[in-house]
Amino acid sequence: MINLTIIDRDGGRMPVEIPEGINLSLMEVLKASEYEILATCGGMALCATCHVQVIEGPEQYFTPTDAELDVLDTLPYVEPSSRLACQIRITEDMDGMVFKLMGGD
Ligand code: FES
Repeated sequence: MINLTIIDRDGGRMPVEIPEGINLSLMEVLKASEYEILATCGGMALCATCHVQVIEGPEQYFTPTDAELDVLDTLPYVEPSSRLACQIRITEDMDGMVFKLMGGD
């Protein structure tokens, strides 16, 4: 199992367990876990409604890609470790990571 911790928009921390080997993005996992993620573009890195912040995890996850930055730049408030959850594929090295849901206001 890959264990993540999700901090919701009210500050609550909840564990999310993900079976290894599933081919999903973090956005798809969050939606399946019934978090309020609109994902209106369906994971195309266009809408930014899947905005999350990386709180803990391997260093490479803290940096958004150029495609993510193009979209994140349109938001009024981002953090240096802001990411688009649809652009993060679930892999085993994510075990123990902590993400915070952003936006939604
Ligand atoms: S789902 Fe639209 S940017 Fe991620």
